[in-house]
Amino acid sequence: MAIAFLNGDWMQPHEAKVSVFDRGFMFGDGVYEVMPVYGGRVFTLTEHVTRLQRSLSEIRLTTTYTDESWAQLINDAVSRAGEPEALVYLQVTRGVAEERSHVYPDAPPTVLITVTPAAARAHAPKPLNVVTKTDFRWHRADIKVTSLIANGLIKNEALAEGFDDAILVRGDEVTEGTASNVFIVTSGVIKTPPKSNHLLHGITRDLVVALAGEAGLPVEECRLGERDVLSADEVWLTSTGLEVYPVGAVNGQSVGNGEAGVVWAKMDQIFQAKKTAFRAAVEEA
Ligand code: PDD
Repeated sequence: MAIAFLNGDWMQPHEAKVSVFDRGFMFGDGVYEVMPVYGGRVFTLTEHVTRLQRSLSEIRLTTTYTDESWAQLINDAVSRAGEPEALVYLQVTRGVAEERSHVYPDAPPTVLITVTPAAARAHAPKPLNVVTKTDFRWHRADIKVTSLIANGLIKNEALAEGFDDAILVRGDEVTEGTASNVFIVTSGVIKTPPKSNHLLHGITRDLVVALAGEAGLPVEECRLGERDVLSADEVWLTSTGLEVYPVGAVNGQSVGNGEAGVVWAKMDQIFQAKKTAFRAAVEEA
């Protein structure tokens, strides 16, 4: 069952209501997280809570929550929902202030959590058809802010042009996808752009880098140009929802033979094994 937590109360998601004076509504003044639930528990919970706290700190939003109390609240929401496979959405805004002002109010933050059932990603996903687009977002794409106007504009422009998504390029550097991180494979080496203020420090990205390293697959965090992506043997997008997802074409040009690559298949197998081990550990506990 889907469930929502809003400022201390539990309800059905459609019952959750916030004031029109909420700064999330008026200013897009908030941050969020999306977390995966496998086997009834949140996967990579610590990493998501750490990133949430960093986002809050970067936008100078103080809450009374500690890492432990966030984790407890999120776990409570997931237990109440009782869904084995779900997505947790958590949003914190700077609260309600009736006088519209750019000056931060002395108001308690608005905290919303929803847990909704999610279908498992396809076992053999159809490779995506993506296009490169100029990354014109602000210079703090490392903060997971709710203001996603630019991401939405670029994604919808790509869709209107017949593509599935866009890979963003700032100057001569590839940054990320509209809601994902980018990986390429060149001559057997897995590469992804290094962390910076121009891309979200994806939890899935970090996990893929770590798992590839543990499996002895060559992996590098290095700057990538648009040409690197266009000439790569494989291109992947990673995110909580996509996990590790193959790209079959960029700018109308096939990546390899247009099918999911062999390194992707290996990486996906490793990623799925990690999920299976996590589910098994949950069952045992
Ligand atoms: N998006 N980059 C951007 C811009 C994102 O919005 C996301 C995630 C990622 C991948 O991060 P992670 O691996 O931690 O999910 C990278 C979420 C899922 C969303 O907005 O729905």
